[in-house]
Amino acid sequence: MQSSTQTSTVRFSEKLHHSGIPYSETRLHIEDLLTADADAVTELDSGADIKSGLQQVPKSIPPRYFYDDRGSELFEQICQLPEYYPTRTEASILQHCAIEIARQTGSCELVELGSGSSTKTRFLLDAYTHLGYSLCYVPIDVSGSILTSTARELLTEYPLLHVRGVIATYEQALSQLSPTEFPARAICFLGSTLGNLNPDECDRFFSYITGTLQSEEYFLLGVDLQKPTPILEAAYNDREGVTAEFNLNMLRHLNHRFGGHFNLTQFEHFAIYNEQLCQIEMYLRSLRSQSVVLEKLNLTVEFAEGETILTEISRKFDLTQIQEYLQVRGLKCLDVWTDPDRWFGVLLCQKL
Ligand code: AVJ
Repeated sequence: MQSSTQTSTVRFSEKLHHSGIPYSETRLHIEDLLTADADAVTELDSGADIKSGLQQVPKSIPPRYFYDDRGSELFEQICQLPEYYPTRTEASILQHCAIEIARQTGSCELVELGSGSSTKTRFLLDAYTHLGYSLCYVPIDVSGSILTSTARELLTEYPLLHVRGVIATYEQALSQLSPTEFPARAICFLGSTLGNLNPDECDRFFSYITGTLQSEEYFLLGVDLQKPTPILEAAYNDREGVTAEFNLNMLRHLNHRFGGHFNLTQFEHFAIYNEQLCQIEMYLRSLRSQSVVLEKLNLTVEFAEGETILTEISRKFDLTQIQEYLQVRGLKCLDVWTDPDRWFGVLLCQKL
């Protein structure tokens, strides 16, 4: 698997030379681990996880099914909503601490898990550029189209930047990242995506991180923090209904991808804060008893009136507890930044 990946990188850059694209274009390399690894594609596209999620009680669907093209677009819209504070709060923290982060890590390879449109990352890229540090950006995302178009934009915005994008899941990428010529890597996991993982998935994620991280390297984490319930619930039940649309779009995505027959008018969005587990839980509720066929999965799902599907958890952390948690998993926090309201936290860590 490792060797086929490397071959595909080489082939890509050779193609660029032969096609007469200027030398500067070799600042861009994109590896596609998703299609290089046929087993992973089948596993990812088989819908096995949907099938098991919809056959369990209570029903659930993994949150990665939010992000088809329309879903990614809706998520970008969510980030602009007045009620959805996380994106803008994290951006304001990064704006303030980016220079300190860059000073701390020095010239490095910036790896970003779930890079999306790389909006907040630009604060970091600006800081490294400002300090005159050479930099290679390694965005990792399952959406190849967003990754490629963002990479091209960044190359024109940052004339000295090298981009080595990887189309892959976090786990694929973390287990196959190649060593860098840079003194160190800084692996970034921003946007509180960590909150989507349940405690078991979280543990697994950190064993991947500590497995790949060398002692002189860095891990940068952005986490959403606990705050009064009304603020949290408003952020996931916005007045314009964009979050509702984002949630329902998951059914449209399944219809499209797996020959599903979900009628979107027969389900409704709701989100509540579970104060015991400190997590937002987002659901789709069936408005009547109905059975829904998913042709490509050979599956018929029965819904009672009022029955729910859990589509996402979004855990909210405590800044002290998360540091203790990281410590137990072999990571020490070098620096922690937050906003004046303590709504969001950014932590710079290294292996113990
Ligand atoms: C991308 C997982 C951080 O949990 O707040 C936004 C996704 N869901 N509104 C979050 C999301 C509903 C978001 N994360």
